[in-house]
Amino acid sequence: MRTDSINHWNIVAENYSAENNPGKNIHSQIYLAAVNELLGNINGKHILDAGCGDGFFSLELAQKGAIITAIDGSDAMLNIAKRKHSHVNIQYNKMDLTRTLTFENRLFDVVVANMLLMDIPEIELFIFEVARVLKKPGDFIFSITHPCFFSGNWEEDENNIKMYKKIGNYLDERVEELNFWGKTLHYHRPLSKYMDAIEKAGMYVSSFREPVPSRELIELHPEQEYHYRIPSFVVIRAKSI
Ligand SMILES: C[S@@+](CC[C@H](N)C(=O)[O-])C[C@H]1O[C@@H](n2cnc3c(N)ncnc32)[C@H](O)[C@@H]1O
Repeated sequence: MRTDSINHWNIVAENYSAENNPGKNIHSQIYLAAVNELLGNINGKHILDAGCGDGFFSLELAQKGAIITAIDGSDAMLNIAKRKHSHVNIQYNKMDLTRTLTFENRLFDVVVANMLLMDIPEIELFIFEVARVLKKPGDFIFSITHPCFFSGNWEEDENNIKMYKKIGNYLDERVEELNFWGKTLHYHRPLSKYMDAIEKAGMYVSSFREPVPSRELIELHPEQEYHYRIPSFVVIRAKSI
């Protein structure tokens, strides 16, 4: 287990779950709308939820009729998931997503990974393993913070409206400390690294979304209107063939 980054998730798990649960904070609503659109009808599908965290999304999928295998490296997250988001069609397991997955080939119709890939130090092996455990054809759908813009700080105009971001060192891969729910690690890599890993794993990108909030959401949270200027998230669907 990559104890360095997982330890942080163990420590912040309760805070993370309290703030995100049940996935209804404005940010998760933005990317989950795109993820759900790409998932389509999942009734009866066998889905791997990789980096399931506290399991709120696994439960949402199970309630739509899917059979879920949900994996995460953090004991604390998995304990919360079992406590808060259990379901007869969800099996929670501990697994390190930077290592070979202990599943047979061609097991899942869909692999979903929300807000995971920028939190793991290496993505090549994981994406290779996703291609291996997916049926052919199968869908790998993942959301990440937007690699092009995440690191840039907002600059405001004279009315304190978030207008611009200055981007530097975009091409440098690096690890950064974040402090949203407590300390966690963020592995910055350019978008091309994600594309390369998908291509090397023998999959192809069939959908690429830069989701923005719905108008209804912005009416409730007008201060979040900046999402229309610079996207905060990327949602990608890759297909195994
Ligand atoms: C930002 S959270 C996302 C959780 C969930 N998918 C969600 O949308 O709320 C990232 C998750 O990745 C897990 N994680 C980070 N590194 C991991 C690793 N090497 N192996 C397995 N899980 C890992 C963390 O424990 C955490 O639950």
